[in-house]
Formats: sequence, structure tokens, C-alpha cells
Amino acid sequence: MKYFLLTFLVVILLIVGTAGLRGRHTPGRPLEFFPDMVRQSKLKAQSPDKFFANGVSGQTQVAGTAPMGFGIPAHSAFSQLASESSGKAPESPERLRYTAGPDYYDTGKMGDQWGTGIPVEVTPELMERGRDRFMINCQVCHGGTGAGNGVTSKYGLNGIANYHDDKYLKMADGEIYDTITNGHNSMLGYGANLTVTERWAIVTYIRALQRSQLVKPEELPADERAALK
Ligand code: HEC
Repeated sequence: MKYFLLTFLVVILLIVGTAGLRGRHTPGRPLEFFPDMVRQSKLKAQSPDKFFANGVSGQTQVAGTAPMGFGIPAHSAFSQLASESSGKAPESPERLRYTAGPDYYDTGKMGDQWGTGIPVEVTPELMERGRDRFMINCQVCHGGTGAGNGVTSKYGLNGIANYHDDKYLKMADGEIYDTITNGHNSMLGYGANLTVTERWAIVTYIRALQRSQLVKPEELPADERAALK
């Protein structure tokens, strides 16, 4: 009898507890056995936080870096920062541009045709920048000499362009520039990773790679010609 009453009470409580309160609204918080995701330690915009030494939750950008996923607006503080960290004279904001305007420099097009010519001054520094950016961004697929035999080809990526094919020897500079900016078929674009000038620097470097495979012995400096023999 004692157990019957106890069981009866528990059953009644369960029924009232679950069914009886249905439809009622409570202003109180629901029971939480595990804390909800909204109540967790996190950084809140515009509020102080002890996580960082300076007590500010919204940290400012590290000097000389660009936040991921954002283009750098021309005339931003970035060119200032970049020149401060490199110790060189500030580059004109033009040269740190990612966004596209309508002219050849930005689009690779002259009218509605691909144009040819490098619209920035070709200097040893530009070539070096092109080599550097090529090695970082392109070599994995296109290979160190641009023959389309980078390391990814060993892992099954097929159809990588070989810059030494006739098609690419003849291709307009602007079209190569456009491939870097927007990609081509299965190759994705690198416009978000490389400034406009860096893209032209890579075009220049690709031309140098092509030339490197075509140079005639008599065009080499005397010492290198001697080393060939
Ligand atoms: C993930 C591998 C990969 C990377 C990285 C890569 N490419 Fe490519 N690239 C390809 C493939 C694949 C093709 C052939 C696409 C096609 O079908 O036309 C190609 C094609 C090209 C072409 C020829 C496009 C045409 O019009 O036929 C050029 C030029 C080129 N890449 C330049 C670059 C440059 C410059 C970089 C570095 C900024 C780069 N690629 C990075 C895979 C890559």
C-alpha cells in the first residue's frame, strides 16, 4: 500500500509536470542542464574583456597585415603601415590595389580585346616580386619552370597549363593577367591574394620562364656560355 501511494504520487507529478503546464508561458529562463551556447565566455564587440593584456575585446589590426577576406581600399592606412615596416618610401596607393577599374592595368583588356604589354615599370624588383609570388601561389601546380608539373600533378591534378606550350607563348599578357585575377576553368582566381601590380609582376615572371627555355646559346653571357661546354 505504501509503495502504491508513492508510485501514484510520482505518476501524478509526472503527468501534471509535463502535460499540466503545457501552453503556459513563463518569463523565467528554461532549465539548463548544460549551459546554452549563448552563455559562454567570448569576446563581445565594444565591451571590455580580460583576455587580452590591454583589456580591449576588439583588438586593432597588427601593423603591416591585412584582415582576411577584405580588399585593401586605396588610400588606406595600409600603405602607410607597409612602408613603415619595410622602411621604404610609401608606395603610391595605386600599387596596393586589389579592386578593378575599367582600364588595361586592372582588366588586361584594351577595348574588348586582350591587350599585351606590362603596364607597370619592369624593374629587377618587380621581377623578383613576381618570382616570389609565383613560388608561393603557382608553383605547386605549374611547377618551378612553369611546365605544368608541380607537386599537385603527382596527386592526380590533371590538365595544368604548361607555359611552354605554343598557346601560352602566343597568349596576350592581358589574358594571362586575367587568369591570375579570375581563374580559368578548373583553376581558381588569385585576385583576392595578389595586388594588381603583383599580378603583372607574375605575368612578367612567366614571360621570363618562357624565355628561359628558348634562349639561344649565343645570347648567353660569355661566362655562362663557357659553363655550358
Ligand atoms: C591548384 C592548382 C593551380 C594553381 C595553384 C595555379 N594554377 Fe594556373 N592552372 C591550373 C590548371 C588546372 C589550369 C588549366 C585550366 C584550364 O582548364 O584551362 C591552369 C591554367 C593556367 C593558365 C592558362 C589559362 C588559359 O587561358 O588557358 C595560366 C596563365 C595560369 N594557370 C597561371 C597561373 C598563375 C600565374 C598562378 C599563380 C598565381 C596559377 N596559375 C596557380 C592550376 C593551377
